[in-house]
Amino acid sequence: MDLSFTVLNLLLIYFFFMSAQPLLELINVKKKYSTTEVLKGISLKVQKGDFIGIFGPSGSGKSTLLHIAGGLDTPTEGKVFLFNTRIDILPENERDKIRKGKVAYIFQFHYLLEDFTVWENIEIFAHLLGVEKKQIPSKVEKLLRFLRLEHRKNFKPSQLSGGERQRVAIARALVADPLLILADEPTGNLDSHQSEEIFTYFHRLNKKGITFVVVSHNENLKKFLNKTYYINDGILSDKLPS
Ligand SMILES: Nc1ncnc2c1ncn2[C@@H]1O[C@H](COP(=O)(O)OP(=O)(O)OP(=O)(O)O)[C@@H](O)[C@H]1O
Ligand SMILES: [Mg+2]
Repeated sequence: MDLSFTVLNLLLIYFFFMSAQPLLELINVKKKYSTTEVLKGISLKVQKGDFIGIFGPSGSGKSTLLHIAGGLDTPTEGKVFLFNTRIDILPENERDKIRKGKVAYIFQFHYLLEDFTVWENIEIFAHLLGVEKKQIPSKVEKLLRFLRLEHRKNFKPSQLSGGERQRVAIARALVADPLLILADEPTGNLDSHQSEEIFTYFHRLNKKGITFVVVSHNENLKKFLNKTYYINDGILSDKLPS
């Protein structure tokens, strides 16, 4: 058989196999705090381009799950693969190398730096995430435009509305061009109009190829999702619990 033909076939098989690999995979993840088992064996695959929503009552383990998925916390049992690397058994600095710039978090309480302006909040994050220095000003500008924050760039967080603060947190999360965004109650403190706006931004970013896992109580998110999960009593299901 022609050698170049065989090599080409092997390459095609390799690329097909790699493109089918999930960005993130949790296998039978359990988490116990002293005697309480919060996660009781959760498996989840996140494929490139997914827009996944996870719903569940307060205290059901949504944040715990998201922290474990992004390597901010480790499971008591089970495996977590991020970009095909098992991260739950890696030391913190190794986990950090794998997710740096590629995985972004948007938290409910966005921890903006109160003494710095909107522009500086994004700029500082860009430096921390290793974005090339020359590229930072144009990236910050583009994000401010995209999130309609240009007129607030010299404001400090205390001078912003809840929706504007959340948009700064989103800009910060986007500055290193992540592949995967993990968002924990990103509209927790916002009214329905502001929430809709945030979900619309997410939707637009998802259409550009960014993968999302969003934990929320907000039912309006559902129309944007391609997969919906529910967490209840430590178990994840794609069916609404009865
Ligand atoms: N560090 C911790 N030590 C002990 N228990 C914890 C810890 N973190 C979370 N828990 C417990 O785990 C359970 C799940 O918490 P988690 O924050 O994941 O819930 P949640 O679904 O995100 O809730 P909410 O919707 O209120 O944000 C809760 O009962 C909580 O008390
Ligand atoms: Mg939570």
